[in-house]
Amino acid sequence: MSRLEIRRFEDLETLSRAGAGTLVAAIRERTSRTLPFHIALSGGSTPRPLLRILAQEVPDAALAGDLLHTWWGDERMVSPDREASNYRMARRLLTDPLGIPGEQVHRIHGEADDPDAEARRYETLMRGHFGGEGVSFDLALQGIGEDGHTASLFPSSPALVETARWALPVEAPLGTAVTERITLTLPVLNRSRRVWILAAGGAKREAVRSLLDHPEGDPSCPASLLSGLEETVLWADREALAD
Ligand code: 6PG
Repeated sequence: MSRLEIRRFEDLETLSRAGAGTLVAAIRERTSRTLPFHIALSGGSTPRPLLRILAQEVPDAALAGDLLHTWWGDERMVSPDREASNYRMARRLLTDPLGIPGEQVHRIHGEADDPDAEARRYETLMRGHFGGEGVSFDLALQGIGEDGHTASLFPSSPALVETARWALPVEAPLGTAVTERITLTLPVLNRSRRVWILAAGGAKREAVRSLLDHPEGDPSCPASLLSGLEETVLWADREALAD
């Protein structure tokens, strides 16, 4: 477990540039030792500039090749070609531009007819790569919703107290984009070396306030329950921090 660290930025662009540079250094540290780097990606709009910069403006051979593996912290149960697909967003911004081999792009099958079976398939895949109790991802790159959710772990959801399964089918609150989803759970997310939470814009002010007011974690703000093995960092701009 690690205590939350805050990194403040003027705006999302400067946050994303700093994040991309730090991520490249972390990837390079692993791949220079011919070790894989496993990243769990989120959906939403906040990570888009960081992914774009990572793929287009940070020329580094370590990013491509056979050592970078992409996973998803959650997925909407839609086909991978739909606008709402978290996989589609990352494919367009990151995995296709970097030419990451298909066998290293571990998407959740949003088109699956049986979300529970798909969640179990994905868990088996993760366990095959990470083993039972060791480190999971090198980085869980997560966002935070206006209600404090992260991945598809929503406030007071029963998924928040799951201790055995690493992935679950969930129903997002009515009104959210695509209610039927699969989410990773805290047992696997909190076994990441690093957890980064990205927050930008005034609309996230209340959620960020709640995150900072609950250093021990609270189910009313699921993002406050995230904690990486080595670091947990809130990357936020001034508007989200109400600085
Ligand atoms: C999703 C995301 C979700 C996202 C937050 C923040 O599938 O919707 O994984 O957890 O990170 O909703 O979204 P924005 O970055 O668009 O505000």
